[in-house]
Amino acid sequence: EKGGYDHFMMKEIHEQPKAIRDTLSGRVKDGVVDLSQEISLTKEQIKGIEKIHFVACGTAYHAGLVGKTVLEELARIPVECDVASEYRYRNPIITDKTLVVVVSQSGETADTLAALREAKKQGARVIAITNVVGSSVAREADDVIITWAGPEIAVASTKAYTSQLIAIYLLGLYLAQVRGPKTAEQLSEIVNHLMALSTQAEDVLKQEKQIAQFARSMAKNEHLFFLGRGLDYAVALEGSLKLKEISYIHSEAYAAGELKHGTLALIEEGIPVVALATQHAVYDKMVSNIQEVKARGAHVLGLATEGDSELRKTVDEVIHIPKTIDLLTPVLTVIPLQLFAYYACVERGYDVDKPRNLAKSVTVE
Ligand code: M6R
Repeated sequence: EKGGYDHFMMKEIHEQPKAIRDTLSGRVKDGVVDLSQEISLTKEQIKGIEKIHFVACGTAYHAGLVGKTVLEELARIPVECDVASEYRYRNPIITDKTLVVVVSQSGETADTLAALREAKKQGARVIAITNVVGSSVAREADDVIITWAGPEIAVASTKAYTSQLIAIYLLGLYLAQVRGPKTAEQLSEIVNHLMALSTQAEDVLKQEKQIAQFARSMAKNEHLFFLGRGLDYAVALEGSLKLKEISYIHSEAYAAGELKHGTLALIEEGIPVVALATQHAVYDKMVSNIQEVKARGAHVLGLATEGDSELRKTVDEVIHIPKTIDLLTPVLTVIPLQLFAYYACVERGYDVDKPRNLAKSVTVE
């Protein structure tokens, strides 16, 4: 049942290229995204959307954080992203021109379901991105985009996250095709890159050995930092959650520009830092943040884009992800972080698939 792997988590990490492919399948034709089978919003309704709220928990929330940047960039609609347990109690401003996107692998998470009901009650239009056909969230939302990741057994979510990202890109492109401001050519260029991701994810998986080695060498540490800017920061949050969840190493993800505002005090000799540096607009800023932690003795694993021969000069070790556009990197950068958490957990001798105190589906508040 584990397909030759020692753990479900490892099997599911390796199923990501297929999950990406399956989630794209049938939804793209000639460089154009077609979600008309799943989303019943008319062109007029799409044009009328005034804001979008992503609402979710845990890893799905981290997918929503990527979604905020992606949808703002593609469709130029203001987006907020909330943890469901906060959203449902904070009296959010919702109108009938608000599109609420709930993201849930299981479709049964109590807080996410309650947030969905609250949003509907206040007149929002709700789209669910979920991995389970016929789940509560799928049944109660106005429209559903299924992620075709297949059953996810390990408590630590992996292939569900990357498939959620794909669903979010598809939604962003679909809305952008109606709303502008990007031209059809610009959008189809993005679609081309999207279609290349599953093969590129296979290439990232080939670096497993190097990541395993780094994870093993770091596994004795009790504290670790993940740094990034922009979308790299959103992925850093997910990498940090994954590590904490299964290896019980305390870690924090930081927006690298915030380091100076406190966290830098915690960087001392030998502390491991995983630094993501794939976002071109903030690359130089990121490199100087890495230099700051290096100067304080941090041991740094850098994540760079293929062809980047600079980062190697600043960090101790570097993993390269294949070239894509900045907007799509999260699908690739998260994979080394998942593998990193996995090997740190195995090295420390914990139960990969069933971490202590956690359940796969959180159906109580
Ligand atoms: O089924 P859901 O996507 O609604 O679950 C949400 C979270 O409970 C889930 O992502 C959790 O954070 C994972 N165990 C993280 O790996």
